[in-house]
Amino acid sequence: MAPRAPPLLLLLLVSAAAGSCGAALGDPAGLLRRAKEAEFVDWVVGVRRRIHENPELSYEEFATSELVRRELEAMGIPYRHPLAVTGVVATVGTGGPPFVALRADMDALPMQESVEWEHKSKVPGKMHACGHDAHVAMLLGSAKILQEHRDELQGTAVLVFQPAEEGGGGAKKMVEAGAVENIEAMFGIHIFDSVPIGVLASRPGPVMAGSGFFEAVVSGKGGHAALPHHTIDPILAASNVILSLQQLVSREADPLDSQVVTVGKFQGGGAFNVIPDSVTIGGTFRAFSKESFDRLKQRIEQVIVAQASVQRCSATVGFLEPSFPPVINDPELHDFFMKVAGKMVGPGDVREKQPMMGAEDFSLYSEAIPRTYYSFVGMLNETRGPQAAHHNPFFTINEDALPYGAAIQASLAARYLLEHQQHVAAAAKVEPRDEL
Ligand SMILES: *[C@@H]1O[C@H](CO)[C@@H](O)[C@H](O)[C@H]1NC(C)=O
Repeated sequence: MAPRAPPLLLLLLVSAAAGSCGAALGDPAGLLRRAKEAEFVDWVVGVRRRIHENPELSYEEFATSELVRRELEAMGIPYRHPLAVTGVVATVGTGGPPFVALRADMDALPMQESVEWEHKSKVPGKMHACGHDAHVAMLLGSAKILQEHRDELQGTAVLVFQPAEEGGGGAKKMVEAGAVENIEAMFGIHIFDSVPIGVLASRPGPVMAGSGFFEAVVSGKGGHAALPHHTIDPILAASNVILSLQQLVSREADPLDSQVVTVGKFQGGGAFNVIPDSVTIGGTFRAFSKESFDRLKQRIEQVIVAQASVQRCSATVGFLEPSFPPVINDPELHDFFMKVAGKMVGPGDVREKQPMMGAEDFSLYSEAIPRTYYSFVGMLNETRGPQAAHHNPFFTINEDALPYGAAIQASLAARYLLEHQQHVAAAAKVEPRDEL
């Protein structure tokens, strides 16, 4: 399949491949070596630490967005801003099709960091405890690698820095703002606590669950706790509602089709001797298919209303929007990922990832982009002691993982463009540049 090319073209290709930094864009292992060079590591770690020190919540990522834009400017990469309040969309390459996207989320969590270290969060009650600081740094790292090879890109890599992944549906707002028009494929990654350092992991098909949130008000009639017959007790009714909700998964769902219903909120009453008028309960439900998700949603509402009525209470049920569909990995992109990741870290360090009941708003991009794919970058290094989990106040990032995240995203984008461009050329029966 080697294209017939005159010696002059070969010479040009060789000199382009030998470019400023040694590795060819089509060589994932070479890009990883580039990302592990000391000066690159210092820079990408520095970026991550600056973001970590100044965590910002959903749709408030103003300083983070500004940092992203300054770094892009320093690299000479054009971008669009603002999209969805703080979002930034940068482009590297020809500016023409095909377009392939990479995505990072920028927001932190409303929790206090408990790790005592030099770059601890400087903002009380806010912390990057999920790793989005690392995601932004890694995507800027990918940007740097791609920009070093911009003349070799066979299309355009679109770098999407989005706000509000933690429940705010930032992905949906980015789609609505036109961030991903004309994109053929998009890759998202998450740095991950339980995947070993040096390992890249994913799976075809469902990888993260669909997630919805509900809230219900169960209303009765308040009164004296010693005279229950003069009241309609919503505490008892809500308690039975919760027990009934727990039977949706255990009795109605296929045991082989993983689902969760959790009531995490129960608020009502304020005195030992008073039965309150109403109780508010709320929770989340998870499933891996649209059918199971929609069925749970419908049954949650039915069960709350019907079970509340058994104790003569009324109930209103609301669902938070947006809900998040499951993250479903495109099977062809999975084969592609296995190939590229295998060339980067060796096939033995590309692992199958179990699906998780956690949710990701990355799935909202799949409603606008034909093919999407989500994978995990390992950071567990047991010789450094135990690794605190995501969303834990003791969460830390193993910064050794940052070069892997930078290099795999750059490789996925570059090779996707290369292969897709070749596909277009073959389909159109275009001779490979013999006119040179
Ligand atoms: C794990 O941590 C140890 C101690 O810091 C380090 O020497 C080693 O290189 C790390 N392993 C990997 C694969 O990064």
